[in-house]
Amino acid sequence: MAIKTPVSLNGVLNVPEPAAADRSAPARPETFDAVGAMPAQPAPSPKLQIRGLNVFYGTFRAVRDVDLAIPGRSVTAIIGPSGCGKSTFLRTLNRMHELVPGTRVEGSVRLDGADVYATDVDPVELRRVVGMVFQRPNPFPTMSIYDNVVAGVRLTGRRAKSELDGIVESSLRRAALWSEVKDKLKENGTSLSGGQQQRLCIARALAVDPEVILMDEPASALDPIATLRIEELIAELRETYTIVIVTHNMQQAARVSDQTAFFSMGDDRAGYLVEFGPTSRIFTNPLHQLTEDYVSGRFG
Ligand SMILES: Nc1ncnc2c1ncn2[C@@H]1O[C@H](COP(=O)(O)OP(=O)(O)OP(=O)(O)O)[C@@H](O)[C@H]1O
Ligand SMILES: [Mg+2]
Repeated sequence: MAIKTPVSLNGVLNVPEPAAADRSAPARPETFDAVGAMPAQPAPSPKLQIRGLNVFYGTFRAVRDVDLAIPGRSVTAIIGPSGCGKSTFLRTLNRMHELVPGTRVEGSVRLDGADVYATDVDPVELRRVVGMVFQRPNPFPTMSIYDNVVAGVRLTGRRAKSELDGIVESSLRRAALWSEVKDKLKENGTSLSGGQQQRLCIARALAVDPEVILMDEPASALDPIATLRIEELIAELRETYTIVIVTHNMQQAARVSDQTAFFSMGDDRAGYLVEFGPTSRIFTNPLHQLTEDYVSGRFG
């Protein structure tokens, strides 16, 4: 299958949103810091801006009225009890949700200000820019380590072997796997340990040069050592990428993330965002009793 790469896509994804706020923004910032000499830093615009998001499976609403601004080049953790819509929410960010028949999304998701649900956005190209890593490592079972890494790259067109070699090495290095596999690139991807397979899947996501990486419980099937490797890797990747990670592990959320979104579930079983803020505050001084109960392990 060839990916149709619309020439407009980079443009589409990078066009700033013509928001009312922009038009009314003062030419100079009007707030100054306590010293009075330097203008206060304007807040950077979010990498992902979610507004009024409602997500349905048929008539069942799984996610209700989510507003969230996810900053770039940082790690955002999504936590909450089982069934509150964390995976569903994550999949709407790169339009994987629509691969399930009978589903529907209302509201908006903007990437660098551009609507990812606009009719001229190619969802396949969107999923290159907003990649995903799943709970269970899922290397392509019939492919070698090498071919797994460049599987997505090959879909974007013919590449010279020397270029593919370079992409394989740089992606495996960025995924902290190169030294362990460099002498057996022709071996099957499934011959690796679970933790190595997960890093292989991360290398595969990195090979197509994404900007955002969505991770749905990426370490929950791994042992503590392999989990630590994934957490160290996330800490390195956050310098370059925007990472959104779903986790059930409170210590992991506290260790790896800069900000945390806590979701809960209403009586109608629709998931909703209870609160969002810096991870240290969510864990030490949450605004809501529900959050306090969850992060302290009293329910969920
Ligand atoms: N394919 C589907 N068809 C219908 N309903 C679904 C589907 N997938 C999920 N749901 C429902 O949507 C709701 C949210 O599910 P989701 O998997 O997003 O929750 P979650 O927070 O990721 O849970 P967990 O922590 O157990 O992974 C649940 O009520 C679930 O039963
Ligand atoms: Mg889930």
